[in-house]
Amino acid sequence: MSFAVAIDGPAASGKGTIARAVAAHFGFLHLDTGLLYRAVGRQMLDGVPAIKAAETLTPDRLNDPSLRTAEVAQAASKAAAIPAVRAALVDFQRAFARRDGGAVLDGRDIGTVICPDAEAKLFVIASPEVRARRRCAELRGKGDEVTEAQVLEDLRVRDERDMNRPDAPLKAAKDAVTLDTTDMSIEDAVQQAIALINQLRAR
Ligand code: CDP
Repeated sequence: MSFAVAIDGPAASGKGTIARAVAAHFGFLHLDTGLLYRAVGRQMLDGVPAIKAAETLTPDRLNDPSLRTAEVAQAASKAAAIPAVRAALVDFQRAFARRDGGAVLDGRDIGTVICPDAEAKLFVIASPEVRARRRCAELRGKGDEVTEAQVLEDLRVRDERDMNRPDAPLKAAKDAVTLDTTDMSIEDAVQQAIALINQLRAR
């Protein structure tokens, strides 16, 4: 039996943490789809054309720790605006979503394009300032010397590009439940997500 959970939202809204915790709770597999675009962006920075990078992407590339930098995030967002890049990554994501045993995918277009028939859809948001604070702490924890102002600007540019691209823009699916984590602890956000999924599973 498959059960797909789609979790979308802007950068550093908490969707990745919620997706991981939900997957662990229900015993589902988790795919951070941002890593696919980051892996393409990484190769683009190394001089490989984005479409070729997407068409030849292999899962082993997703484990590269250098994918988490702000530079790669910007390259990912540029690559993600190219329709042929997105098209090359669709089949892998759809197959993952419908694997036996349940799957959680987080990204920007999971509930709208990749898995419009997902059994559960969440749209996770938070204020830009809170998101910048969280991402700044995360990057500093990894030894990156960044300021909150730099991170805020990085998020602003990416949100703008991700929301305004013609192909699969970042937006909530009509049937998604919005979770605003601005004033919520991550534990509370995870509990709310689990409660919602339990309700949907009981139907
Ligand atoms: O972790 P963060 O939310 O900062 O970013 P990410 O989820 O790793 O995604 C990096 C970039 O990939 C985003 O800014 C989007 O442009 C793109 N992306 C996308 O277009 N569609 C997805 N399903 C996931 C990511």
